[in-house]
Amino acid sequence: MPPESARWRRLTSVFAEVVESAGYGQLIPPLLEDLGVFTRIGDATDVVTKEMYDFVDKGDRRVALRPEVTASVCRSFAQHRPKLPWKVFYSGPNFRYEKPQRGRYRQFDQVGIEVLGVDDAFLDVEVIALAWEFYRRLGLKQVKLIVNSLGEPDDRAQYVDALREHFEAAGSALTEQSRATLQRNPLRVLDSKRDPDQSFIASAPLIANFLSPEATEHFAAVQAGLRELDIPFEVEPKLVRGLDYYRRTIFEFQGGTLDSAQNALGGGGRYDGLVEALGGPATPGVGFALGVDRTLIACDDEGVFAAPVKAIDVFVVDVTGGLNAVAVTAELRRAGLVADRGYDNRSMKAQMKLANRSGAQFAVIIGGDEADAGTAIVKPLRTQDDQVVIARSTLVAHLLDNIHSEESDLP
Ligand code: HAM
Repeated sequence: MPPESARWRRLTSVFAEVVESAGYGQLIPPLLEDLGVFTRIGDATDVVTKEMYDFVDKGDRRVALRPEVTASVCRSFAQHRPKLPWKVFYSGPNFRYEKPQRGRYRQFDQVGIEVLGVDDAFLDVEVIALAWEFYRRLGLKQVKLIVNSLGEPDDRAQYVDALREHFEAAGSALTEQSRATLQRNPLRVLDSKRDPDQSFIASAPLIANFLSPEATEHFAAVQAGLRELDIPFEVEPKLVRGLDYYRRTIFEFQGGTLDSAQNALGGGGRYDGLVEALGGPATPGVGFALGVDRTLIACDDEGVFAAPVKAIDVFVVDVTGGLNAVAVTAELRRAGLVADRGYDNRSMKAQMKLANRSGAQFAVIIGGDEADAGTAIVKPLRTQDDQVVIARSTLVAHLLDNIHSEESDLP
């Protein structure tokens, strides 16, 4: 709702400014995709198996409201085969059937970028740096960047085996939920926030010991690039992501103020096999998505990036029936002023009350005398200055001279 919606729009435009400065073009993917687009990103993730809004449409197609955008971007790439590298950004809603709570909703917005066709570790650095710059422009200071590498598919597979063995040895000391997770996706057990699991997570093997020399080198280059840009980060060897398509670099941005279950403001990583899984040629990919809802909660908590104040400039009060207000407001709006008016030919008192409440700098008042004389009264609403009578022919010029533009308090 306004005024929050204006802040929302401003956030997406700040994001667009940041990523367009790095050559990303906007992709507007559909909200509805063939179900297969998402089931192919992994059947071991809750996002796909439990949380998807999927249904059969009137033509008997199995479709889903997108739970995320990366798969949609890769589908679009596989279908249209744009030139490489393909650098795109997006913003919009996603749907996951989760338990709603502060910072976790069934419909939530993301802004994000994806790059297809580049293997370079320094691209991972660029991607991370753009998110970092976005947070900086919003004014957020407590965002923490954590990074990890999941290695090549073989490294990851060996690591998953080792994790399975480790957690299976814990037997029934592990929580029931984690035992169920272990069956589907041992990596995700590392993500458990439940107390009884913590000691087993602490003693779990580390991915770093399973990385191939190539993956180690790639990860080292990512870290060197981040240091080069003075972007503070922590390597979190037990960082895993909720989606299953990642290889090598993964990262997450954590807010300083949200509950730990909802403190991921955004995240991303490399997903080099995804385009292939969606029917395209083998193509490396990397990107991130940032949660808009959570980012704004973090902004509230840190007291930054307030809703822009765009009060109206002029409120037109016409007590002659309303036709004069029709003409005057149209003229003011054409001249670039923000103008509103009273309706229903209400009394002077009632319309002046609305004018004061509107926050306008001036009221333009047209009564019978003014209508006859071709004038209007201009009354300052925020100062004690006297009102003046101005000829209708010079009204716009007078207001343009006297209204000081009100910039929002945003960066
Ligand atoms: P994700 O970690 O599932 O990654 O979501 C990214 C962000 O979206 C989260 O960090 C969070 O801020 C927000 N988010 C997720 N679920 C919810 C929810 N239910 N309510 C509110 N906010 C939520 C992805 O979606 C990947 N596609 C990111 C990516 C892009 N990886 C590579 N490219």
